[in-house]
Amino acid sequence: MSASAKPSPATARRSGPLAGTVRVPGDKSISHRALMFGGIASGETRITGLLEGEDVLRTGEAMRAFGARIDRAGGEWIVRGVGNGCLLEPGSPLDFGNAGTGSRLTMGLAGVYDMRTTFVGDASLSGRPMKRVLDPLREMGVQVEAAPGDRMPITLRGPRHAAPITYRVPMASAQVKSAVLLAGLNTPGITTVVEPVMTRDHTEKMLAGFGAEIEVETDREGIRSIRIQGQGKLAGQTILVPGDPSSAAFPLVAALIVPGSDIVIENVLMNPTRTGLVATLIEMGASIELANRRDAGGEEVADMRVRSSDLRGVSVPVDRAPSMIDEYPVLAVAAAFAEGETVMEGLEELRVKESDRLAAVARGLEANGVECREGEASLSVKGRPGGRGIGGGTVATHLDHRIAMAFLVMGLAAEKPVTVDDRAMIATSFPQFMGLMGGLGAQIE
Ligand code: S3P
Repeated sequence: MSASAKPSPATARRSGPLAGTVRVPGDKSISHRALMFGGIASGETRITGLLEGEDVLRTGEAMRAFGARIDRAGGEWIVRGVGNGCLLEPGSPLDFGNAGTGSRLTMGLAGVYDMRTTFVGDASLSGRPMKRVLDPLREMGVQVEAAPGDRMPITLRGPRHAAPITYRVPMASAQVKSAVLLAGLNTPGITTVVEPVMTRDHTEKMLAGFGAEIEVETDREGIRSIRIQGQGKLAGQTILVPGDPSSAAFPLVAALIVPGSDIVIENVLMNPTRTGLVATLIEMGASIELANRRDAGGEEVADMRVRSSDLRGVSVPVDRAPSMIDEYPVLAVAAAFAEGETVMEGLEELRVKESDRLAAVARGLEANGVECREGEASLSVKGRPGGRGIGGGTVATHLDHRIAMAFLVMGLAAEKPVTVDDRAMIATSFPQFMGLMGGLGAQIE
């Protein structure tokens, strides 16, 4: 389904206890990187567990346009890469749809090449700020043509030889960090990214796995310096993509708030840069047991047993935000069912996601009878234990998959049904959402 198709609403109703064992699809961040790094490496990369969501498939299309061969064989994806430094000029604009990660990382990867690459996207992506990626690329010598405010459509043309830089990332953003590191791959010398606040580290870890010369140093204040030696060789790898904790978040919160539920979510990524939601829910009184913790292809994974719980409101520490940045919409839903108030701060980055998520969540809560206070970079939610008086509203999703899924979860435990105006965007990150939730006993139609 595309954003231009007629909106397709969905309604979730109060459901009986959720039960069963499920696996969520592969991690979105790792899936994008697997296709990209496989596409730029020499030789063959084999990927199992790839997220086959629209965002990731767009990244695959882009890598094909740069000359990589990508095939699906059985349950595996096989990528034959072009070799570092050898991307071809795409014949037409690259359409990234709804995908911030795919487009921003590719701007870094290809922007420093001495060729023209044009980036376009849907209405949500075309409204998102790209200056954060274009600024460091300009410093490296890249020429930029962009719509006003450094928005898409964007055309990049690199210099003959890009200039290595040291770049301090001004906001907590793994996408900006990654874009600069990927630009460094095709730049002579050493490119350095200074990261004052640690964000998800998949790019560093995976590039090292592909054989890049990359070094990370953390100083006494926790400031990380990541150095990458340009123009080295990357070699194809075998990649096992673990389950996405940002997708697991939806059945997880659903099981907590629907009385009598008892579910298991298997094979969920437990990288500490991604587990802020689990830590917060446990502080709220959630019954979450992590079993069978193991290493899967260099990342820790675990199975999660989740039982419905009486939640209490908490104050979420500001410094936890980067490790749960995509999970605030569904945390706000959990907070709506908790005893007392939940306070979330340090949320400025939520304003520039697929939608202004802070406003979208606040409007969705209000439309369903939940009291909340929206600040510039904060949200507090007053809970209604048992879901009393919650529901009856329609939520505007603004082309944002996580807003759609979060409020459908809300409807499962609310007194009255909750409707979202469009389910189409769910396919960008979690195409199996409806079927998986239905299999657990959720009533969504
Ligand atoms: C991502 C980084 C985060 C996150 C996004 C995925 C990544 O974005 O919200 O869903 O894979 O690097 P920011 O870098 O904008 O925080």
